[in-house]
Amino acid sequence: MSWIREGELNLIERFTANILKAGPMPKHVAFIMDGNRRFARRQNMECLKGHMQGFNKLAETLRWCKHLDIQEVTVYAFSIENFKRTKDEVDGLMDLAREKFLKLLDERENLEKHGVCIRVLGDLNMLPLDLQQLIAKAVLTTKSHDKCFLNVCFSYTSRYEITNAVREMAWGVEQGLIKASDVSETLLSECLYSSNSPNPDLLIRTSGEVRLSDFLLWQTSHSCIVFQSVLWPEYSFWNLCDAILRYQLSYKSIQKARDLHREHQALQQQEADREVVAELLQHHGNGKPVDAQRRQDALQHYATCREERVQDFLRALKHKRDSYFNGLWSETALA
Ligand code: FPP
Ligand code: MG
Repeated sequence: MSWIREGELNLIERFTANILKAGPMPKHVAFIMDGNRRFARRQNMECLKGHMQGFNKLAETLRWCKHLDIQEVTVYAFSIENFKRTKDEVDGLMDLAREKFLKLLDERENLEKHGVCIRVLGDLNMLPLDLQQLIAKAVLTTKSHDKCFLNVCFSYTSRYEITNAVREMAWGVEQGLIKASDVSETLLSECLYSSNSPNPDLLIRTSGEVRLSDFLLWQTSHSCIVFQSVLWPEYSFWNLCDAILRYQLSYKSIQKARDLHREHQALQQQEADREVVAELLQHHGNGKPVDAQRRQDALQHYATCREERVQDFLRALKHKRDSYFNGLWSETALA
């Protein structure tokens, strides 16, 4: 089963999609694809078959998303916690990933035709080396595609991602690229694995579990969260429409919360800059009073320098991450 499913929606699906599209549509939807093993048990299948059906459902869901103009999808494919499952299941999931990323490379022309960019978010170092290399190859192959985005969270948890972002900022301070006072909510967001994506508008968890299980905790503070009882391999177009409808019903309050948060963030940054500048002026002016215009100019100058510093740091971080992927790629090329 391939990543890209061709095919149009049927008449009634198309009709429903058009009605939904008259309202505000989520641009980025995240899925916790839960319930594969329960589905397998109910069907008297091996648990791995449940995961395989789960992958097939992902491909089908991507097709629906495309027809619903949802340009970005993020899925929880393998949590760091999942390493604690039986060796057979973990090995089976690694084999499934190997098979699917190989398939992805086979399908590169089709992915290019549809403009699909695949990103993998997580700590790849925890994976077998051959899988790391395969993933690096897949990610680099689709890197320049820009019509739609699939983020596969693999060897991922949100707390790990946030901790890693904090470590990256500490590295930046250590290297003298940024100052400790440059650390902010905005900068932390830029250091997450998900920094290239807008936050999800809608997060869907299947199988009736009503928790986030350490998935995108930072990114979904202003997202619509929908829990659905259906097991992931049984997910349908209608389940997706139901979730979108619920997003549309809460759209106004979500937008309001997002706007308020954005304003609050900007004020927080201004306040932080003001404090640093006041201290600098105090220090350099030997405690003499500073007129309002000079204070304003200093503030403006400081904000510009801070932004330049932060952008340099983010470029260095991107270079570090790109080098990791390129290194894995060249190892495979040499092999
Ligand atoms: C949760 O169901 C699902 C997983 C831990 C794995 C999900 C993986 C896929 C759908 C395949 C994706 C593969 C690639 C390469 C993208 P569960 O095992 O927790 O089931 P349960 O809740 O019924 O026990
Ligand atoms: Mg589960």
